[in-house]
Amino acid sequence: MFHFVTGGGTPAALGADWLTSLLDQNSFSWVASPLGARLERLTIAWLKELFGLPASWGGVLTTGATMANFTALACARQWWGDRHGVDIAADGFGGLPAVPVLAGGHIHASAEKALAMLGLGRASVRRFVADGRGTLDLPALEEALRRLNGEPAIIVATAGEVNAGAFDPIDALAELAEEHNAWLHVDGAFGLFARLSPLSAGLAAGVERAHSAIADGHKWLNVPYDCGFAFVRDASLLPRVFTMNAAYLPDPDDPHPNFGFLGPEASRRARALPVWATLAAYGRAGYQALIERHLELAERVARRVQAAPDLELLAGPGINVVCFRFRPPGMADGAELNVLNERLGQLVLEDGRVYVGTTRFDGRVAFRPAIANWRTTESDVDLLVDAIRELGASISPEAAGPS
Ligand SMILES: Cc1ncc(COP(=O)(O)O)c(C=O)c1O
Repeated sequence: MFHFVTGGGTPAALGADWLTSLLDQNSFSWVASPLGARLERLTIAWLKELFGLPASWGGVLTTGATMANFTALACARQWWGDRHGVDIAADGFGGLPAVPVLAGGHIHASAEKALAMLGLGRASVRRFVADGRGTLDLPALEEALRRLNGEPAIIVATAGEVNAGAFDPIDALAELAEEHNAWLHVDGAFGLFARLSPLSAGLAAGVERAHSAIADGHKWLNVPYDCGFAFVRDASLLPRVFTMNAAYLPDPDDPHPNFGFLGPEASRRARALPVWATLAAYGRAGYQALIERHLELAERVARRVQAAPDLELLAGPGINVVCFRFRPPGMADGAELNVLNERLGQLVLEDGRVYVGTTRFDGRVAFRPAIANWRTTESDVDLLVDAIRELGASISPEAAGPS
């Protein structure tokens, strides 16, 4: 399975996930589940350490990166409201101007969805794009910030985009955010894991300077669905947005951790158990080794693509994603090649040996396998390349013979 960015479940995570269902505790509050609350506090601390984020940041587990983006951007919205003298969580948006949201071309659909859910609106995003690949036009974004003249804004950066594993220049964006009164949010659903290896850490340099960052558990951490993490530099924003008040609930000032007051859900699965278990079992060294194995597998796919006369590498490998297409020798770029790769994509799914979908990259229909499962081996990625070549040959114009 190479489609989307699909992880798996390590043995430790899977066992702990079964236990989570067996115990079936509500990780809303300390009184409902001291175990869930303690483990969530511990895992958030471990995850910050793992990703090189300051220990002072707040954090909460979510169902995935979409809800983590929602959680972090809700804090950004609250920060933005504060700068306009309005407590949005208490009083709403009434009378405020539109929120300026700035991004490059890599912004993920789930961040836009989060903006839609938060009332900021998908259309609020101004994209600054330098090329057909979605590369951020940094000078143009800087110019837009300058024109805002100190008016607060939100920048959404992407660490690891889905088509080719590209990264926005986070360090440079952090610099601009500091200079121009902007909140910098980093969507690192899988790309935040680049920080675990010196081989890839440079791609995600500067995340520690952001105001919020998120990642997924069910992708590269290989815990079962569903699991994500949201981290926010100003920890006080989480309870300001997400707290709840009722006589039968814990006091908002309860010194115990009540994670239902720090994220969107009230009743919540104790998903800290599998996160804790897998980190305890394999540790930083285990995860670094996993990431490096996947980087090497992605390199292997890219090498095999480059060596094949009927494949064309379009980008990367960008961390664990390789973007390429089938292209019979001599076949021109254009609509016909796109149709061929679309057909081939269908054929690969019907064939069933490997699962990899197609995308559009710089106008070209392409495959974009992502390697994120702890069990993936060299023979799996070799099969991926071989199956695409074999099926491609069966439908390529040359295979039809002279007409
Ligand atoms: C960069 C990025 N952000 C967010 C998401 C959404 O993640 P989830 O499906 O866990 O909500 C993804 C999923 O692929 C992603 O790649």
